[in-house]
Amino acid sequence: MPGDAPGVARAAAMLQRGGLVAFATETVYGLGANALDDAAVVGIFAAKGRPRFNPLIVHVPDFAQAARLADFPDIARELAAAFWPGPLTLVAPRAENCPLSLLVSAGLDSVALRAPSLPLAQALLRKTGFPIAAPSANISGRLSATTAADVAQSFGASVELVLDGGACPIGIESTVLGFQGSDVVLLRPGAITRAELEPITGALLEPEGSQIAGPGMLASHYAPRANLRLDATEAHDGEALLALGLTAQSNATAMANLSETGDLREAAANLFSMLRRLDASGASTIAVMPIPDTGLGEAINDRLRRAAAPRETAQ
Ligand code: TXA
Ligand code: MG
Repeated sequence: MPGDAPGVARAAAMLQRGGLVAFATETVYGLGANALDDAAVVGIFAAKGRPRFNPLIVHVPDFAQAARLADFPDIARELAAAFWPGPLTLVAPRAENCPLSLLVSAGLDSVALRAPSLPLAQALLRKTGFPIAAPSANISGRLSATTAADVAQSFGASVELVLDGGACPIGIESTVLGFQGSDVVLLRPGAITRAELEPITGALLEPEGSQIAGPGMLASHYAPRANLRLDATEAHDGEALLALGLTAQSNATAMANLSETGDLREAAANLFSMLRRLDASGASTIAVMPIPDTGLGEAINDRLRRAAAPRETAQ
């Protein structure tokens, strides 16, 4: 469904009736449901095959809406002023009498909130008037979707409506932050980089065991069908190659270059679609060249490490 005004109106009506709608955001496509409606939220877990203990991000148009749903510390207000709307998710205790379905919190007393910046996502949120719970629109544990076609390929008929906003401009998920007093915890590296955050937050803390809130933080996630071999300098026989920067002549069975100039923004935008393409080539292993761990490289490497992790732990 095109992401024009009639498309947004139809999507809003479907959400209002308790249905599921996939929609573009600036990061990746989300699989949305009315966050006030338990039955609708259950539908997300069912469609994704997502374990019930993995909480969902709730999308709102702005901080004013978010502040009605959660009790944010002052530092969260500053972060929202700097980065919202945009690819930053803030986890805070549910407000007293918070109307959100308890299922979005998956048994925790906190909720993750984000105001997406893509005009299509903003239009949908303003049209519905209610918050939209939306994890990434992929089967649980598999590659995220950055185009409407990727969503359709993952879900087939089980998602009736995909609101098409074209290719997601950022291509990697939001950064997820939690709070501990006045300290800020990096729960998931993402589109807003450590270098952008730390001038405001001070040194980010690593999550502790008790803050491991779901498979998004477990070892295996974002996994293609093929195995991944990281820090490869070249492809071995029979392997596909995911390159970054200039590459020598390669005997890879299939090859994609995240960014020929080594630009990490371009690399993030290409990451999931290129992994999908190489996976579809049928190679049993995708060799991945080293990605610098700076800027967006931290989030890219996080996704690649989880995609490469042993699958026994996958949910
Ligand atoms: O960019 C994004 O964040 C995309 C778009 C659609 O907004 N959404 C997304 O959702 O990536 P999902 O469900 O794939 O990842 C949400 C992450 C998970 O790692 C989850 O465990 C964490 O946020 N999370 C959600 N609620 C939480 C909570 N209350 N406490 C701690 N972590 C939470
Ligand atoms: Mg996800």
